[in-house]
This record gives sequence, structure tokens and C-alpha cells, in this order.
Amino acid sequence: MYLPHHLEPTIKQLEEDFAISDEFLIKASDFFLQSMDEGLKAPEQSREHMPMIPTYVTAIPTGKEKGLYLAADLGGTNFRVCSVDLKGDHTHELIQNKYRIPQELMKASSADKLFSYLAQKIESFLDEHHTEAKEKSTQPLKLGFTFSFPVNQTNLDEGTLIRWTKGFDIPDAVDRDIVDLLQANLTVLEINVKVVALANDTVGTLLSGAYQNNPAETNANTIVGAIFGTGTNGAYFETLENIPKLKNPPPGAKGMVINTEWGSFDNTLKILPRTKYDEIVDSETANKGYHLFEKRISGMFLGEILRVILIDLFKQDLIFTDLYKARGGSLPHRLAQPWQLDSEVLSYLQIDDSTDLKMSELILQNTLRLPTTRDERVVIQRLTQAISNRAAKLSAIPLATIAKRVKDQYKDDDKDFEFGCDGSVVEFYPGFRQAILDSVNVIDPLKGTNKKIHIRISKDGSSVGVAVVPALVEEIQKNPHNL
Ligand code: GLC
Repeated sequence: MYLPHHLEPTIKQLEEDFAISDEFLIKASDFFLQSMDEGLKAPEQSREHMPMIPTYVTAIPTGKEKGLYLAADLGGTNFRVCSVDLKGDHTHELIQNKYRIPQELMKASSADKLFSYLAQKIESFLDEHHTEAKEKSTQPLKLGFTFSFPVNQTNLDEGTLIRWTKGFDIPDAVDRDIVDLLQANLTVLEINVKVVALANDTVGTLLSGAYQNNPAETNANTIVGAIFGTGTNGAYFETLENIPKLKNPPPGAKGMVINTEWGSFDNTLKILPRTKYDEIVDSETANKGYHLFEKRISGMFLGEILRVILIDLFKQDLIFTDLYKARGGSLPHRLAQPWQLDSEVLSYLQIDDSTDLKMSELILQNTLRLPTTRDERVVIQRLTQAISNRAAKLSAIPLATIAKRVKDQYKDDDKDFEFGCDGSVVEFYPGFRQAILDSVNVIDPLKGTNKKIHIRISKDGSSVGVAVVPALVEEIQKNPHNL
């Protein structure tokens, strides 16, 4: 949309700074493949390579797994507690309660504050839906814990926190065993529940995607579980010979699900696009210098990138000048505050086609108390599109590269590839999914085959999937040859 000439060149330049070319996508995919290998090799975690964390999940569900399990899911602003009844025919029944995590527990001095809150919420869920868990005489209910932060996993039910991401900051929890923390707080409340599995949300999404998918009907295999929500990350199945850092693999295992923690792809910025705004946003975070890929893609950051650009344009006297004068020399409080511009707002601005962007005027007024002129709204819309476009194109890099990487695992099978995805950005942001697929096609990972690539939204995947873990383990114990 047309802008007056004091603005046009600046906005055009910004659009160029955020543009991602086809050549870049291809080069970045090669680099991602190389970074995966480095992460699978390196025995120690370091900022230099992707974590590529072995999860001790050694098989992918078939859909025949059965049983009733509890799932607890912590990964962003909400804590979810569910019971999942797996029917053994790709279907399940889910009962769930959702609790908002109080801000003061996300950044606290002691981990016990957060974990005792989680245990209390599990207790209220059980009081409501499963009173049998209070009876000591019965077998404990088995609980899978989805904990969506980088964890150094040493067994299915053991793992220590490497570092917090996505705005959490409780230094006391780092290096501690996450299952122990939860179990200890459940024991204090005398709840008859045993934490039997710990999994990242991406692992859950992969497993629930595979559980629910019936390849005979969809003609597709689920090869990746990915999240594009508050954060971004993905998990996939890797063959053992490609995981040299795994010194004592479980007996009989042929491979293992890997939690890539791709949010940390290219932390040293060898190839990723960098603008001064990315640097400002990074400097505002608790995990500065880490997860720089995530900080260009996921829901927690898109709004913040836009906000810091707007502040910069304002400082250059390009926008909000009348407003500044009218307010006697200040900007609306919310715009001046970090993290106050929610990415959900961007999803409305992105597709506003009303005359003079009147819809956006209302939205900005309501959410940020920000009055705008027509030109300012055009600026905001064009920047929103530039930021989200970059995010969607970058999101294609890990997905396409993993498809390329696992191609050989499926060489004797003619089914399509399916990415099981969850998270607000991929689910709700207008055009995001299609933009990912367009860029995946540019990388063209399945060149030379007739297979196609699909994105499937795997709703509640992270919770359902962690319930599949214990069921899967029981299946494996019954039928070890299925590994
Ligand atoms: C962050 C976390 C990762 C999680 C992702 C999506 O990147 O580090 O563990 O999977 O967010 O929730």
C-alpha cells in the first residue's frame, strides 16, 4: 500500500532486510543438516551446536497402544493436566483442565514454588476427575510429564534442566532432575501418582501424531513433531548409527527419537539473518545468545520485533510524531513496555483489508491504547507482513531438512510425509502454514520421489503424546521384536 515519500524508502529497506531468498533457504538447509550431525556427535552441550537430545523413546507408536494415563504439560503460559484414555485404534478420550501460571512463579528464586503449584493443580484435577488416585490401596496412576524446555535426558523418566527458555527464569532449577522435582511435590501432598515418563512437547506431538495417524487411510507417515507456538522446536526418529554421542543405547534399540531443540540452530549467527532489531530483542531476554533461531520465528517474539522497530522509527521522527506532541511528550505506556505487543494482534493486522486499515485502527487502540494515522497503519501492516514472512520461511528450513534426512528410513515405502504440528502460530496465524509449505517446496527435500509433504495440526499433541510414552513402553516390553 502507498506511503508518502518520507516513509517509503525506509520501509522498503526494512522489507529487504527481512526478506529471505530461495538461495538462502537452500544454503541454510545444508547448514542445518551439518548442524544436526555436529549436535549428534558432540558429547557436551555447547552454545555452538544444536542440542540434539536423545529422548530414550526407541519406537514410534502404531496406534494400537492402550490404557489410561495422566499427562501434565508445562511449556508456556499455561499448565495443563489431563487424563488420556488410549483406545488402541488411533483414537483416545481426553479430559483436561488448564491453569494459568502466575507470572511470579515463572521468574522465582526457588523451583519448589513452581513445582508445588504444579502438584497442587494435579491434585485439584484428580479431585475433580479421578478420586481413585487418592486411595493408597490402589496402584498409583501413571503420569507422563511434558516439560517443554531443554532437558538433558538420561532415561525415559530422568532428566536435568539445561536452561530455561521462553521467559522462564528460575536459576535454582537448572541442573536438577525434573521428574524428582515433580514427584517430591506430589509425595508431599500424598497423591497416589507415579511420574513414569518425561518428554518434550515436540516428542509428544510426534508420538500423538503417529498414534492418531492411520497410514492405511492417510497414506502418510508422521516423520516430525513440531511446535510453532510461544517457542519453536521439533523431534524426529534417528537411527542409532547416526547418534555417536549416545554411549549406552537401550538394548535392542535400532534408533531413538531426538529432541533437536532447533530453537538453538545457529546461535553463533553464521548464516541467520540479523537486523539490529533481532539484537535488541535478544538483549531483552533471560537466555541471551541462545535460541536465536526461535527468536526470529515464534509467537513470543514476533510482536516484540515489531514493537522495537516501531520505537526505532519513532525515535527517527518517522511515526507517532503527532501523537507524541498530543500526549505532551510521551508514548502510550503499553507500546513503550517490552513484551506488551502480543503476536496474536499481528495475526489480525496481517490480513486487514478494510478501507484505510480501519480494523487495525480499532485493534491497536484496544490492545495498546495506541491511536494511529492511516500512514502509520500502513507502516505497521507492511512490517507485520515482513516479520511473519521471514518467520514462516525460516520455519521451513528444519522441517524440509529433516524430511531430507529421514528419506532413506522410508525408502521401501511409498507413503507421503506428514509433519505433525502444534502451537498457536502454525494453527492460527493467517497464511503461515502455506508459506511454510511453499518454502519447503523450494528446498524440495523429496526430490526424485513421488512423495508429497503435508502439515497436520496435531491438537493437544503434546499432552496426548506423553501419555503414549508409557503405553508404548509396555507394548515394547510385550513385543520387543517390534522395535
Ligand atoms: C522452546 C523450548 C523447547 C520447546 C519449544 C516449544 O524452544 O526450549 O524445549 O520444545 O520451546 O515449546
